Amino acid sequence: MTHAAVQAPAFVKHPRLIAWVAEMAALCKPAAIHWCDGSEAEYDRLCQLLVDAGSFKKLNPAKRPNSYLAWTDPSDVARVEDRTYICSEKKEDAGPTNNWMDPAAMRTTLNPLFDGCMAGRTMYVVPFSMGPLGSPIAHIGVELSDSAYVAVNMKHMTRMGQAVYDVLGTDGEFVPCMHTVGAPLAAGQKDVAWPCNPTVKYIVHYPETREIWSYGSGYGGNALLGKKCFALRIASTMGRDEGWLAEHMLILGVTNPQGKKYHVAAAFPSACGKTNFAMLIPPVGMPGWGVTTIGDDIAWIKPDAQGNLRAINPEAGYFGVAPGTNMQTNPNCMLSLNKDVIFTNVALTDDGDVWWEGLGDAPAHLIDWQGKDWTPEDGKAGRKAAHPNSRFTVSATNNPALDSEWDNPEGVVIDAFIFGGRRSNTVPLVTEARNWVEGVYMAATMGSETTAAAFGAQGVVRRDPFAMLPFAGYNMSDYFQHWLNLGAKLQAAGAKLPRIYKTNWFRKDANGKFIWPGFGENTRILKWMIDRIENEAQGVEHAVGISPRYEDIRWNGLDFSREQFDLVSDINAADWAEELKLHDELFEKLAHNLPTELTTAKAALAERLAS
Ligand code: OXD
Ligand code: MN
Repeated sequence: MTHAAVQAPAFVKHPRLIAWVAEMAALCKPAAIHWCDGSEAEYDRLCQLLVDAGSFKKLNPAKRPNSYLAWTDPSDVARVEDRTYICSEKKEDAGPTNNWMDPAAMRTTLNPLFDGCMAGRTMYVVPFSMGPLGSPIAHIGVELSDSAYVAVNMKHMTRMGQAVYDVLGTDGEFVPCMHTVGAPLAAGQKDVAWPCNPTVKYIVHYPETREIWSYGSGYGGNALLGKKCFALRIASTMGRDEGWLAEHMLILGVTNPQGKKYHVAAAFPSACGKTNFAMLIPPVGMPGWGVTTIGDDIAWIKPDAQGNLRAINPEAGYFGVAPGTNMQTNPNCMLSLNKDVIFTNVALTDDGDVWWEGLGDAPAHLIDWQGKDWTPEDGKAGRKAAHPNSRFTVSATNNPALDSEWDNPEGVVIDAFIFGGRRSNTVPLVTEARNWVEGVYMAATMGSETTAAAFGAQGVVRRDPFAMLPFAGYNMSDYFQHWLNLGAKLQAAGAKLPRIYKTNWFRKDANGKFIWPGFGENTRILKWMIDRIENEAQGVEHAVGISPRYEDIRWNGLDFSREQFDLVSDINAADWAEELKLHDELFEKLAHNLPTELTTAKAALAERLAS
C-alpha cells in the first residue's frame, strides 16, 4: 500500500488527518484501509467478518440477540501495566509511579516494530469523540488499528463514526492513536482467531505531543485506546495544562423523595465494584430514592464560569468485568446485557449462551474461555470457566438506569466526590473530609487490596492514589498539586466545592466475612452524604474526619445492628499506626514535588491519632 493509494471518503474533509493516515499506512503497510462510518450496517459486517475468521462466536439469537463471544489468546487477557510507558521529555514528569523511556529512544524502539506491522491486514480508521459530540468538555481521537475487534468495540465504547468528522471539520484537533496487534501476516499465511504478539507489548504515551502508540495486544485497555490511554493518561496531562480533571471515576445521579437531584463522582480502584455502584438500585426501605448512571469508569470534569465542577462521561459504553455480576449484585447491569453485547473470555453454554462464575448455578457442561470442556467438577478443582478478568462490552443506552443527562454536552454539576478502596480492616465505612486539603490527602493515600481480576497476588494492599496509580499520565505529586491548586482557585473565586468522602464497603469480621451488605444498601450512605451537604445530618468528628453515628443512618428495612455498625466504623489505634507508616512509605516514594499541604496534613493526622 503506497501513499498514493490512500483515498479518503468524501465525508473526511481534514487534510492533516488524511496525510497522517497516509503516513501511518506507509509505515504499517496494511493490505487495505477501511474508514469507519460507525453505521449499524458496518458493525454487522465487521462482526460477520470476525465470525468468519473464527474470532467471534455468534450467540444463540433466541437467548442473547445480536451478541457475540470472543476468546483471546491466553497471553492477552488484561492490561499490561509493566509494559505501559509515559514517554515525557523529562523523566521526573512521568514520576516514580510510571514506567518512563526517553521519547526519542522509544520512537527508535517502536519504529521498526510498526514498520510493516499490519501486513496482510486491514487498517481501520476509527474516528471517535470522548464525550457528547461537540461538547465543550469533549475531545476527539482517531485510532488506526488492524483489529476489527477494536473497531466494533469502539462503536459501543465511544461516539464513533461519520459525525465525528463533522465536528472535526477541516482542521479540528484530534489525538492520534496508533494500535496494532503486532502480528503481520506473510503472503498466504493463515490467520489465528486472536492475533496478538505473545512476547512483545508496548503501551506508549507521549504527553507533550499527545500521541498514543500501542503494540502487541488486542485486549481491552491495551487496545481500545479511547479508554485508559486517552481518557485518563493523555487527558490527565491535558487537564493539568488546561485547568481541568480527567479522573478514574464513575458518575451517578441520586434523586431524593422530594425530587431533588444530586451528582456524585466516585473513584474506586479497578475491581472494586464501580459498575455495581454506578447502577445501584435503592433498597425497598428507601422509597422515593432513585439512582441513575452517567458513567461507570471515567469522568472528565471542568469548572464552568460560575466555578461549578461540571462532569461528563467521556465514554459511551461499559467494558465491565463479568464474573460476580448477577441479578442480586447488579440487576441493571444484567438487564443491560440482554442483547447487543460483545463478551470476551466468558464461558459458552451448550445452548449458545454465556456463563461466568457468580452468575448462578453452573450448567452441567460448558466450553471454557480457552475452548476446553468444563464441568462443575472442574470448577470444584479450581479451574475457572470464565477468565477472572472476562468482560462485556455494551452501549450505555442498554442500561435501564441510564441518566437522562448522560449525553448532555454541558455535563452535570458534581456535589460530592467519593474515594473508596477495598480494605478488610482499618478504613471506616464512610468519612467526610473537613476541607478540600483533607479530602485530597484521603484520596492521595488511598490503598486497596488487590484481586485476581487485575493482578496475580490477592489481598495485598497496594497504594492507589485517587484510584489513578496505573492511569495518571504525569508525576503523581504534580497531580496532587493540580487538585490542590484547582480547589484553592475555585474557593478563592467564591465557588462552593464538592464535599469529599472516603468509603470502604469491604471491612471483614473475624471469620473473614464482609460485614456491610453493600450494593443497593450503599444508598443509605449516599443519603447521609446528601443530608450533610444540606446540613441536615449529624456526624462525629474524629482523628480521620467526620463519620455518621449509628442513629445518623436510615436503617428502615435493613437488619444491621449497632454492633455491626461499630465493626465497620471503628478506628483502631494500632491499625492506624500501621496505616500511617504506609502513608510515610508512599510519601517517601513521591517525595519529588510532594505538596507541603499533604505532609502538613499527615503530621496533623499523626498528632490527632496520638492524642
Ligand atoms: C478497568 C480498570 O478495566 O480499571 O476499568 O482496570
Ligand atoms: Mn477502570
